[in-house]
Amino acid sequence: MGNQKTAFITGANKGIGFATAKLLAEKGFQVWMGVRDMKKGREAQDVLKAQDLDVHLVQIDVSNDESVALAAQYLKQNINKLDILINNAGFAADLLVVPSEEPISSIIKQYEANTFGPVRVTQHLLPLLKSTPNASIIMMSSIVGSLELSGDESTVYGQVNFAGYSSSKTALNAFVVAFAKELKPFGINVIAIEPGHIKTDLNNNTGTATPESAAELIAKYALLQDISISGKFFGPNGALPW
Ligand SMILES: NC(=O)c1ccc[n+]([C@@H]2O[C@H](COP(=O)([O-])OP(=O)(O)OC[C@H]3O[C@@H](n4cnc5c(N)ncnc54)[C@H](OP(=O)(O)O)[C@@H]3O)[C@@H](O)[C@H]2O)c1
Repeated sequence: MGNQKTAFITGANKGIGFATAKLLAEKGFQVWMGVRDMKKGREAQDVLKAQDLDVHLVQIDVSNDESVALAAQYLKQNINKLDILINNAGFAADLLVVPSEEPISSIIKQYEANTFGPVRVTQHLLPLLKSTPNASIIMMSSIVGSLELSGDESTVYGQVNFAGYSSSKTALNAFVVAFAKELKPFGINVIAIEPGHIKTDLNNNTGTATPESAAELIAKYALLQDISISGKFFGPNGALPW
């Protein structure tokens, strides 16, 4: 264990999480890639190791208490501080289903991954985050989680209606505000990020921007050591309304 800066990213085997793992490792971080499937994780890790990047795997299913506890235990055995936590793992379902017909079981699954997952991971990793000055926590939110924009029919976000997914991100935004209040005295920034419309499996690769652009945005805010931006929501064009 040394003084090298460390980052832990959930859902790091592909998409935005993978691009962010690559970028932070290129910036000199020791990156811990959270993956729920070790086979997929090893394939992703091999790509980055071939570029001589300092990347390690941690098995984690953010929807599962025991898995998160074991992942946190494993990290604590291997690092003595965590500079950046990126709660990136998440998924979207039922995007074409109206709210009145979206199964509760499916809404719960989205909340388990998108809302309770980041809360669990953050709670378990706080001792490591408190062991370094100016740590950052990035919560991967979504612009569809903005109540103000979703309720405005003049915006594209007012035209879509993803009840389970959007509300899971709205609830995550509320936890950003709550954690930011608690963690400000420790110098820990807690920030919600909307990455843009990114071409990944989440949207069947229909996005218009690259995972690399999302990674640049995440890294920009994760590396900003400005506590005045904690508890806020940012996208590619700056601050967003809750
Ligand atoms: N793409 C966009 O335009 C967009 C816009 C706004 C917000 N976001 C957010 O950005 C984040 C990353 O999404 P992406 O676009 O990169 O999607 P993606 O390519 O589908 O990647 C999602 C990642 O999350 C992992 N994951 C899902 N559920 C998990 C769980 N329960 N435990 C651990 N890992 C889990 C997946 O693992 P597996 O490979 O094992 O499934 C995968 O690594 C998500 O939170 C998403 O809501 C994306």
